[in-house]
Amino acid sequence: MQNIRNFSIIAHIDHGKSTLADRFLELTGTIPKEKMKPQYLDMMDLERERGITIKMQPCRMEYQGFILNLIDTPGHVDFSYEVSRSLAAVEGAVLLVDATKGIQAQTLANLEQAQNPSVHTQQKLVIIPVVNKIDSPQARVEETKEEISKLLNIPKNKISEISAKLGTNIEQLLDVIIEKTPFPTGDSEKPFKALIFDSKYDSHKGVIAYVRVFDGKLNKDEKIYLIGQKIEGHVKEIGYFKPELKSVDELSAGEIGYIATGIKEPGKVRVGDTIIKMSNVKCQMLNMEALPGYREPKPMVFASIYPANPDDFDLLKEAVAKLKLNDASFTFEPEMKESLGRGFRCGFLGLLHAEIITERLKREFDLNIVLSTPSVIYKVINNDKKEILIYTSADWIDSSKVEAIQEPWVKIQILTPLNYLGQVSELLSSIDSKYIKTDYLGAEKVELIYEAPLREIITKNFYDKLKGISQGFASMNYEILDWRKACLVKLDVLILGKKEEALSRIIPEKEAQKEGKKIVEKLKETLPPQLFSVPLQAAVGGQIIARETIKAKRRDVIAPLYGGDYTRKRKLLEKQKKGKKELKEKGRIQIPPRVFLEMFRG
Ligand code: GTP
Repeated sequence: MQNIRNFSIIAHIDHGKSTLADRFLELTGTIPKEKMKPQYLDMMDLERERGITIKMQPCRMEYQGFILNLIDTPGHVDFSYEVSRSLAAVEGAVLLVDATKGIQAQTLANLEQAQNPSVHTQQKLVIIPVVNKIDSPQARVEETKEEISKLLNIPKNKISEISAKLGTNIEQLLDVIIEKTPFPTGDSEKPFKALIFDSKYDSHKGVIAYVRVFDGKLNKDEKIYLIGQKIEGHVKEIGYFKPELKSVDELSAGEIGYIATGIKEPGKVRVGDTIIKMSNVKCQMLNMEALPGYREPKPMVFASIYPANPDDFDLLKEAVAKLKLNDASFTFEPEMKESLGRGFRCGFLGLLHAEIITERLKREFDLNIVLSTPSVIYKVINNDKKEILIYTSADWIDSSKVEAIQEPWVKIQILTPLNYLGQVSELLSSIDSKYIKTDYLGAEKVELIYEAPLREIITKNFYDKLKGISQGFASMNYEILDWRKACLVKLDVLILGKKEEALSRIIPEKEAQKEGKKIVEKLKETLPPQLFSVPLQAAVGGQIIARETIKAKRRDVIAPLYGGDYTRKRKLLEKQKKGKKELKEKGRIQIPPRVFLEMFRG
């Protein structure tokens, strides 16, 4: 065990984690040069296309007699649950800071997680501070080191300087990691005990658990037991991440690897659970209590997912269960709505998360789905003083029964260079928000603390706007504070006079007029024209507050006619008119999923 080092790379989004991981894979010869491609550990196509890491990815490397288990983590705030879980499997964390940006909001948030054992159940992790992108002409290496030195209270000469892109100082950094990261503690002679920190579904091998072994040894073919779920499994295969799965004969204390559990039902394996051997359960061995596990993530953004073809409901059911294995922060519960059929009410950590899940369902399970407008969770207190949680706008209750409405508020922390302070403050005052305080982090950087309804952050593309006005330099993080009083209404959308539940949304009463207008205008742009005219309406409590009409698509029925037989032309036109009227009366039009997605982007 003395030769094992388990470490994670944590950073703000885009500071270069995956690129640094590439250099490690190259230097240690884990991936042969000819097979190397940028962001190798971003194994999903979706990650490569978007240039962001979505999933943590472990990889075992061998280097100068050491076994190095690296876990690459995502940087975006919506995937922070991936970071916290990976931290439970390691002893050290490389804190990477981009020299062109300096410390940003997720640098602080991720560092806090690494330093707070209650989040990841381990002792405090050893932090290895690194400045990246020193090759860039925009790099401000000294200022960035100054910021890190102040933050961690360490001298500047303890901070490594690298260029992950060019491979500068990577060997030295690996030496520092080996020197500073403590080797794992644990006892391979004790009964086997491993923590599940991630999982995925394999159609041949069933549920594969990604584990950190804390004590003991495990071999293929043994019987295992999951303490939390109280379920047995029969090990089909065990192995390491190279980063592809590579089977081996034994996993022992201190190691990171995988166990093909032999369990077929996806819902039975949960991250944070502890795996022990069945033989130890039978012998009633002591010391069999579960490892501490994780704090459950609390989704705050909800949306309904329905199959575009109602016959695909069972496929969707299977898909969400399998996807949940690979994304523990995603939650789902079956629901049934008259206008939508059978589907699921799903919880996400943010909008990007919702978008990624939708995309993964489509790609990985070949499903065509419809997503309702994501909504923040609200609370209604009814006349009987009962609290009702509102997950989607379809749950909204009749206004005559509402006594009070509450919504979650968040604390927003924004880090911005001083020269964007004006624009950032202006943006913050354009939303419902409350100023709390300003702090200076060094001479050039300011930290702003505000409080605001979560709704303002989620539904108004706040994050993108912040990036836009600060040319990517300002960054933000938010955490849930409490429930506060709110003045909200449900905005219904009617197409051809029929309510389209999936398009309805909950909005502040004072914005109803503006929102209603915006929605029908946008719908007019996105909904393909029909052969008949289609009225679009927005309504609150049955009262129409905005309307638009999509003009009928014209099909030139008289084009094939040559010459000027007037009566024939008129006959054809009249026939067309009658047909259109009939179609319109029949009344329902198919709304393509693309329209829902467009509408949801707002
Ligand atoms: P997320 O996982 O999505 O948070 O991103 P990441 O931290 O893994 O960043 P990634 O490795 O994807 O790099 C982000 C961008 O920075 C890419 O365009 C890289 O090419 C670039 N980059 C990474 N390291 C360096 C570096 O040392 N120098 C320069 N100039 N660019 C770099």
